[in-house]
Amino acid sequence: MFGSDKKKEAGYLSAKESRKISRENRKITEQYEKKRKRKNVDPSEYACEMRDPNNAVEFDDVHTCFFTDTGVVKSVDGVSYDVPVGKTVGVVGESGCGKSVTCLSLIQLLQRPQGQVTGGSIRLNLGDHAIDVTKAPEEAMQKIRGSEVSMIYQEPMTSLNPVFKVGEQIEEVIALHDGKDWSKEQIKARAIEMIETVGIANSEGVYGMYPHELSGGMRQRIMIAIALACNPRIIIADEPTTALDVTIQAQILDLLRSLKDKINSSIILVTHDLGVVAEMADYVVVMYAGRIVERGTAEEIFDHPAHPYTIGLMASKPVVGKHVERLYSIPGKVPNPVNMPNYCYFKDRCELCVKACDGEYPHMVRLSPTHEVSCYRYYDNATADAANETAAVLDELISGTGTEGEDK
Ligand SMILES: Nc1ncnc2c1ncn2[C@@H]1O[C@H](COP(=O)(O)OP(=O)(O)O)[C@@H](O)[C@H]1O
Ligand code: SF4
Ligand SMILES: [Mg+2]
Repeated sequence: MFGSDKKKEAGYLSAKESRKISRENRKITEQYEKKRKRKNVDPSEYACEMRDPNNAVEFDDVHTCFFTDTGVVKSVDGVSYDVPVGKTVGVVGESGCGKSVTCLSLIQLLQRPQGQVTGGSIRLNLGDHAIDVTKAPEEAMQKIRGSEVSMIYQEPMTSLNPVFKVGEQIEEVIALHDGKDWSKEQIKARAIEMIETVGIANSEGVYGMYPHELSGGMRQRIMIAIALACNPRIIIADEPTTALDVTIQAQILDLLRSLKDKINSSIILVTHDLGVVAEMADYVVVMYAGRIVERGTAEEIFDHPAHPYTIGLMASKPVVGKHVERLYSIPGKVPNPVNMPNYCYFKDRCELCVKACDGEYPHMVRLSPTHEVSCYRYYDNATADAANETAAVLDELISGTGTEGEDK
């Protein structure tokens, strides 16, 4: 008896319970899938208006869940942010915070059938009209992927097909979209042009090579060539340089930035590396356990980080020229987003708690027209100065001169 209670507490499910959950999940996900797979859907069904026509994408209260046999994982839990045309938005946070799942929701490439967008809208600006991708059927998404929105992944070796020459893989995307009515020669010429554009000198030679014949940096350039072959409006770069060494990383980021300006697209740059964000992003969104805890312009986030989590992330990265005995590490780990309690999700790891933190999940507090933070510390004093004060308290704690986190 005691044993079974303990198992229950640890989240253990019996085979019977698990089967029941999986049966219920199937019922729910089948509904979603049926809707997605419909053919010849009237485009007015998923047409929408952008809130601001200067935005390329508007995430609006997006909820994305995974219906697993152990329960519903709320990977993205009410995320809202805008990606303005021609700008780069950096999305940061530790592993498992929902950064990738948010992007996969935009391009509708979640692991199916268990992964589903269950609420909110994602408005995509297509120039003369806009669509809500959460309502768009698969048929419509196929036309958008690769041509309007494309994705650069972290590990090119798993995304490139090892049995096809890289030239063919670039051609495949061109032939599907921009080059639908082009001749073979025209498509090949465009593929070679793309290989040159991404800074590969021997473009004709590389055209005929297989992915394993290229270095990591070259493969990532080919991924970028594929992603940009049809001049997409939105480029999702999910940890695009994590697998590369530092010098190649800088080259790839430079390349991405210059290509983006050339075709005036917008970038959603997902990374856990704040250095990369500082260099690339105009705006920054900080995610924690499926929610946004802070957002602002890059200057605001770097000069006045306000949320204790953001401040912790900053303190845990090395800074050139600054000597520290030991880098800070945020205690604990990201909670598993199943059955999250209704209080600040960062509370169990936060070193700067105040009394009010026992209350329900904190709402967003506006520190400036562009800077928002979800934390009780700013309920009474919503200014950049308050953010600097909070940072100073954590700084003291880290260097060991402070006494307690409770300063109110
Ligand atoms: N296919 C999946 N099935 C179940 N859970 C998933 C799946 N993909 C992601 N998750 C969960 O969603 C959460 C967010 O994941 P992800 O967006 O990949 O994080 P990251 O911020 O590292 O990109 C994690 O808790 C992860 O376990
Ligand atoms: S609300 Fe409280 S627990 Fe949450 S981050 Fe702010 S200070 Fe920390
Ligand atoms: Mg990820």
